[in-house]
Amino acid sequence: MTDALHHLKRHSTPAKALTEPAPSETELESILAIALSAPDHGRLYPYRFISIRGDARYRLSEVFVQATRLREPDVDATYLAKQREKPLRSPLIVVVVARLEESEKIPEIEQMLSAGAAAHNVLLAANAMGYGSVWLTGANAYDDHVRAELEIAEHERIVGFIYLGTPELDIPPRVHPPVADFLSSWD
Ligand SMILES: Cc1cc2nc3c(=O)[nH]c(=O)nc-3n(C[C@H](O)[C@H](O)[C@H](O)COP(=O)(O)O)c2cc1C
Repeated sequence: MTDALHHLKRHSTPAKALTEPAPSETELESILAIALSAPDHGRLYPYRFISIRGDARYRLSEVFVQATRLREPDVDATYLAKQREKPLRSPLIVVVVARLEESEKIPEIEQMLSAGAAAHNVLLAANAMGYGSVWLTGANAYDDHVRAELEIAEHERIVGFIYLGTPELDIPPRVHPPVADFLSSWD
């Protein structure tokens, strides 16, 4: 593998193994500049980003708790504690939000794919800068209470919560199946 491709190799780090330092504001701007280079039919930039760090993570933690209580009134204390802990695991969370525009030419699926590519660019750029990351969703990503608190509009979707920080563990990457399993030629 060439050195150039080596920089593109990545794997996730569990959120709880992501510690300080997180990308600084300036580094995050560089990461998001790479996100903006995602392929984009119609040049819609069909996404936006919300950065959550420091004390704001505690507010998000409360939002996750409230959302869980609303979804599951009889929820047990252990599960609730897990929800409370989620945003506190890593020093920085970037919420990737797809902004879906009504368009005859660019179907919603293409806008979602572009937002997904932007999210993946965040992972790749953070990785190239030596930071660890993981892209998570779960019930909170699709929850109305969470959406309201984060001010996600009707035409918007939460694509994922990207947890970022410095990996404190050297997690071994997944062993992928051979590429040949995924490739056929049509001729
Ligand atoms: C849209 C999306 C949502 C995801 N949500 C979760 C999630 O909620 N929980 C989880 O454990 N992994 C989730 N993942 C998978 C992880 O981000 C990660 O890719 C997976 O654990 C494989 O690890 P790797 O990235 O090191 O290959 C999601 C991935 C995508 C693309």
